[in-house]
Amino acid sequence: MTFRALPQELIRAKRDGQALSPEAIGELVGGIADGSLSDAQVGALAMAIFLNGMNAAETVALTEAVRDSGEVLAWRGLGEGLDLPGPVLDKHSTGGVGDLVSLVLGPWIAACGGYVPMVSGRGLGHTGGTLDKLEAIPGYDIAPSRDRFRALVREAGVAIVGQTAELAPADRRLYAIRDVTATVESLPLIVSSILGKKLACGLDALVMDVKTGSGAFMPTLEKSRELAQTIAEVASRAGTPTTALLTDMSQPLAPCAGNAVEVREAIDLLLCNKRGGRLLEVTRTLAAELLLAGRLARDHEGALALLDERLASGAAAERFARMVAGLGGPADLLERPERHLPRAPVVRPVHAARGGRVTRMDTRAVGLAVVTLGGGRRAPSDAIDHSVGLTGIAALGDAVDGERPLAWVHAASEADAERAASQLREAIEVNDVAPGGVVLPTLIQDVIRREAP
Ligand code: URA
Repeated sequence: MTFRALPQELIRAKRDGQALSPEAIGELVGGIADGSLSDAQVGALAMAIFLNGMNAAETVALTEAVRDSGEVLAWRGLGEGLDLPGPVLDKHSTGGVGDLVSLVLGPWIAACGGYVPMVSGRGLGHTGGTLDKLEAIPGYDIAPSRDRFRALVREAGVAIVGQTAELAPADRRLYAIRDVTATVESLPLIVSSILGKKLACGLDALVMDVKTGSGAFMPTLEKSRELAQTIAEVASRAGTPTTALLTDMSQPLAPCAGNAVEVREAIDLLLCNKRGGRLLEVTRTLAAELLLAGRLARDHEGALALLDERLASGAAAERFARMVAGLGGPADLLERPERHLPRAPVVRPVHAARGGRVTRMDTRAVGLAVVTLGGGRRAPSDAIDHSVGLTGIAALGDAVDGERPLAWVHAASEADAERAASQLREAIEVNDVAPGGVVLPTLIQDVIRREAP
């Protein structure tokens, strides 16, 4: 990277609280991507941004520079017969427990005429990762060639895969340095990191699911709302119309958490074996926003009607099956999930220490129970056990007693099951309250829509 000013002078300006120009930000991000900035300089820059923040224009410039630091996928202007005939749409979540929205939403949008090139991540801390879930499916290849990925997006309308080295490489290096320099929790750095990767997929519209509550990445409702508003604003100013939903994570979204168990839940939803529930409501609301943004529906009611029809007809399930088979998974996964998905050797109920109703959950601790079982990682290099997890997790307000457990634990051993059981009893509060005596959190707390300028 050729710098017009010395990089240390740009870092000094940020250190002293000045706003950086888009050109300066472009040079700094170029220097992160091509290695001409040293680790020390990247760390110092991250800390200067962490301490002094960035204004809206700087955050947009940082997001665009991260997006453009590698390949930006194009789906149009490719020539006769190669352009995608519908809108390119995607969704991203800040992460949670029992959050398998992507597994259902991607194929559902595809069944409604959208195209979903979804680049997903692995579990982080207490939260599950879409890639880890998909790897519970034997043979599923999360790293297909670029040509295979493009062809599958065209054929199935959806492909959920991992990040490649070519996509937003500046973020890969910056994130690794932030991780060891105490500079992760910075709004402009978080926003540009999330959006830089997503917008590099060449989207026409994006929907963000920002979580709030005891299992959310952001610690308070105010911080979650600020993140949702900033993401919608910045993505839209960077040219991708974005809607952010603020949704509840004060309990797991699905009644299960783990990898194979969440794939099983997704299949049951897609096959309409399960009706209602928080997971379906959040997925349907996010999907409706995407159909509207992609002009695949005229209004909200029209979007919901189209979604309901494509779920009931089996079209969404069929797209999921096509994606799985197209990426090397079993062709009969939907017909015979029990034959293919790994099952833990120990499956047993966990009962509360006393009867009553569930009044509060430490959702983060529920997620960490899955990590303890081996379903998530303590260190990035850890292998994970796809078979373990929790099912039948009681919801806030549910009655539990000697008959109705807090959850079922799926474990590799009796000792692991016992450890997870103790963690669950600690994480889920049970008290004497009358039916209806527990105030349930609002599931969808806000919808923030932003058009591109
Ligand atoms: N996820 C990301 O991709 N980046 C962040 O900075 C935080 C969460």
